Amino acid sequence: MTPQDSQDLTRVGPGTVMGNFMRQYWIPAAKSSELQVDGTPMRLLLLGEKLVAFRDSSGRVGVMDHLCPHRNASLVLGRNEEDGIRCIYHGWKFDVNGRCVDMPSVAPHQCFKEKVQATAYKAVDRNGILWVYMGPRQDDPPPLPMIEATLLEEGDVDLQFMMRSCNWLQALEGDIDTSHFGFLHVGHLDPDEVPEGHPLEHTASERAPEYHVRDSAWGTTYGAYRKVKPDTYYWRFANYMFPFWTQTPQGEFPINIQARAWVPMDDHHTMSIFWRRRTGGPRSTLEPLKSGKPLGGARPQPDFQPVDTSWLGRYRVVADESNDWLIDREAQRTNRIYSGIDHIALQDQAVTESMGAITDHSHEHLGPGDLMIARTRRRALQAARAFAAGTPAPGAEQPRVLGEARSGYFEMPTSVEWQQAYADKMRAADRVRELQQAARPEAVPAK
Ligand code: FES
Ligand SMILES: [Fe+2]
Repeated sequence: MTPQDSQDLTRVGPGTVMGNFMRQYWIPAAKSSELQVDGTPMRLLLLGEKLVAFRDSSGRVGVMDHLCPHRNASLVLGRNEEDGIRCIYHGWKFDVNGRCVDMPSVAPHQCFKEKVQATAYKAVDRNGILWVYMGPRQDDPPPLPMIEATLLEEGDVDLQFMMRSCNWLQALEGDIDTSHFGFLHVGHLDPDEVPEGHPLEHTASERAPEYHVRDSAWGTTYGAYRKVKPDTYYWRFANYMFPFWTQTPQGEFPINIQARAWVPMDDHHTMSIFWRRRTGGPRSTLEPLKSGKPLGGARPQPDFQPVDTSWLGRYRVVADESNDWLIDREAQRTNRIYSGIDHIALQDQAVTESMGAITDHSHEHLGPGDLMIARTRRRALQAARAFAAGTPAPGAEQPRVLGEARSGYFEMPTSVEWQQAYADKMRAADRVRELQQAARPEAVPAK
């Protein structure tokens, strides 16, 4: 990557190549439950913009620049009252659309509230998530994406928020980097310990699988394969979806409904939001091994810091650079846990944060195992630059395009070509009701 490529891919603030591109898409920003009717306004950092979010008396959510358009006092301090947020400095009040609806510090005959408009973004709740659209079409925003996991009802899905202190791109790349799994996460796993049919059966025995990569309508896809019987491949499919989504192959393909958003808070911080189908969902990779114990280094939950009201105060884990991500050197030395870090997502967190807030891409040496990374960078960069030149952002207006992405593993005769294998499995897969019912007006061409 050239320095310009790196710059254009990683910077997300207003006016940047990637920032403008991402603003064409709806962004999952918070749990709906974080905002109560007439409750405390919340600091929200999205794409480098400092915003205030509040839920008004009618349940609608306002998301706007946190600086009051009068003289820049923060509306985070504001009074959330009677369908609007009121600045505590001079009492100006704004509704969820950013319109100034009261200007009590100005005599009625001099009032100019109709002329004052805060920078406000469309925000809606769907299935327990607050979505924000920061693009130019505030009066007529595009539809919400139909990414399958985000269409599941709240009770049918496990949801995990976790903040990461590094750029969105290097955070995201951990999810589409198939070659790290056998080391970072299961380097300590003895293949003989894995019972037949266990979800980890084939990942433990083959640590350098071959794989194909292609551009897809929604972004990029890889299919990693290994021969597990004379005429059978074991496939693991995973995806990158525009602009910051991933799906990893952990789960049986027909029922594996999952997605992760890597939402840039600013250039140096990313909110990871993970949806995984619970009801009827895939088996856990933490099923017991022959020893009766699950995979080591994979405790169920990391420890979180208490939530506070600062810009970076939500969903922070305790493990970070200041404490070496709580690495246990004894566990590492004895190979009880290959990485020494006890939690799968924390292992990813540690390696990607350790690269520095925005890693120096000129320092890298990409190899054949990094094909998906290289292709995804190119695809995202080309799409973002094409958007800057007037081409629509892929899938931003056709929400079903992103809904056609599915990840997971399956076995297939070696004679079946890989993209055909994906298509066959997809036809037979469980789909979310909305997608099943959809007439699919937009065909999804494979490139
Ligand atoms: S700064 Fe907000 S009302 Fe004056
Ligand atoms: Fe990982």
